[in-house]
Amino acid sequence: MLLLEYWEGCFGTKLPPLFCDCRTTTQTIVFNDPKLVEEIYTTKSKFMDKHQKFQQILDDMIGKSLGVEKSTQEWADKRKHLTKAFYKDKILVIIKKSIAMTLEKIQTWKEKLKEKDSDQHIIILNKEIQELLDEVVNVSIFGQDNERVTIPYFLNGKFTQMVPGQFARTLLNDILKKLQHPLRASFEIFDKIPLNKQERDTRKNCIKFREHVQTMIDSRRKQMNEPSYIPQTDFLTMILSNPYFEGKDKTIIDDCCNFFNASNVTTSTTLTNLLFFLIRDQDILKKIRDECQRDLKVGDFSKINCEQWQNLATYEALNDCNYLQYCIMETLRYEPPIPVTTLHVFSEDVKIGNFTIKKESSWQVNINELHFNPDEWIRPQEFNPDRFDPSNLLYLTPNGKKRHAMSYGPFFGGNRICLGKTFAESMIKCLSIVIINSIDFEFEDKDLLVRKPLNSILFKEPTYLVRLKPLIS
Ligand code: HEM
Repeated sequence: MLLLEYWEGCFGTKLPPLFCDCRTTTQTIVFNDPKLVEEIYTTKSKFMDKHQKFQQILDDMIGKSLGVEKSTQEWADKRKHLTKAFYKDKILVIIKKSIAMTLEKIQTWKEKLKEKDSDQHIIILNKEIQELLDEVVNVSIFGQDNERVTIPYFLNGKFTQMVPGQFARTLLNDILKKLQHPLRASFEIFDKIPLNKQERDTRKNCIKFREHVQTMIDSRRKQMNEPSYIPQTDFLTMILSNPYFEGKDKTIIDDCCNFFNASNVTTSTTLTNLLFFLIRDQDILKKIRDECQRDLKVGDFSKINCEQWQNLATYEALNDCNYLQYCIMETLRYEPPIPVTTLHVFSEDVKIGNFTIKKESSWQVNINELHFNPDEWIRPQEFNPDRFDPSNLLYLTPNGKKRHAMSYGPFFGGNRICLGKTFAESMIKCLSIVIINSIDFEFEDKDLLVRKPLNSILFKEPTYLVRLKPLIS
């Protein structure tokens, strides 16, 4: 958020529709206005392209993966093939597995609740949800048989065993620290080169993670050739079954690593933040629980088993529970996991509004500013899911007009819109339904009732201390 605070310091709380941040070699244009953003995502979408800064910074880990690759024909073809992993029927199978993992996590919480020592009932919410999502993402990408694998992470001169999700998260954090090095603000040539011991260690950890993915590829290929092989629905199996990826192991590793980065932190911060807001506002929580009982037609959730939970995860159920959907959208508005996009360019000179943007000029979208624009949102600083309910007055702008569609966009847009949008939305919805209807929480740290420390990858991890409570139905 330091960047956002810096911009506010320059312009005040309402930023201009666009401005140029000239502090670095990239001299980036920042778009803050929904009308300009709409033009980018629609009529100028075909010119949207990636700036190479992040490709260079992240190269050791994700190479030329989809998220950093230029918008070439090769990128478009690959995106079409990778999209198949996110068809609804595939997502539902993964969600069913994830529900089982969530119930296991809840069971560990219930075991804690049996302890006489009430200190044992306290958990760090964000850590627990991260652990859960580490597992969920790992199984979604690599499959069930990889569930308990750990990889040694080289940190401060020693190795620490980490599950792949935690490894990828720690690694991304370390890689992004490279952006803070002053030499990189002035000279792009240093983006790719490690500049100190810590960066050299980070490079070694990237190699370790990529070796792990190669091992997974080799062992899955072997399994797939065995007559007794039962097809799986994870991302890796899907890629290995697609002739398009034949002989392209480097591409497979790049994109598996990218999916880890793109999915792990975004989904775990969203789920944690959602639970945080619900613990803080018990009225909203009660409304969701009533809605779940009504829409899912379950009188008492404590009486249903894993299989019954899994049967609730259907196409229809994903469209039910509107109010919960509004709460998830409000969570993503209030604290978008990616508040400002990475750097982009246009592949040709384009006119956006009255501004001509030169080909290859660097630009980014300030998602956070769109989400807090006082011309589009009534009392934007307030967490209120009703603003997504079409029948509510908060659905409109302060002038009573229809809100601009691009005022909300946590998943970016145009031809580079988030590939995992439906997957993330469905996963967060299903997992939150299971958690909310199985157990209760209250803040152990009462300061959290009035102050929410940011939960973002770029900052020191917060500690959301909460006390587990049995759910009285
Ligand atoms: C709440 C969860 C998520 C949010 C808010 C989110 C948001 C975003 C945003 C803002 C971008 C554009 C970033 C940029 O270019 O600067 C993006 C790109 C991307 N996301 Fe997500 N994401 C989420 C979850 C996921 C998941 C679960 C996956 C994969 C399983 C995923 C895969 C990707 C990929 C592959 C791209 C790059 C697309 C391209 O450039 O063609 N995301 N996401």
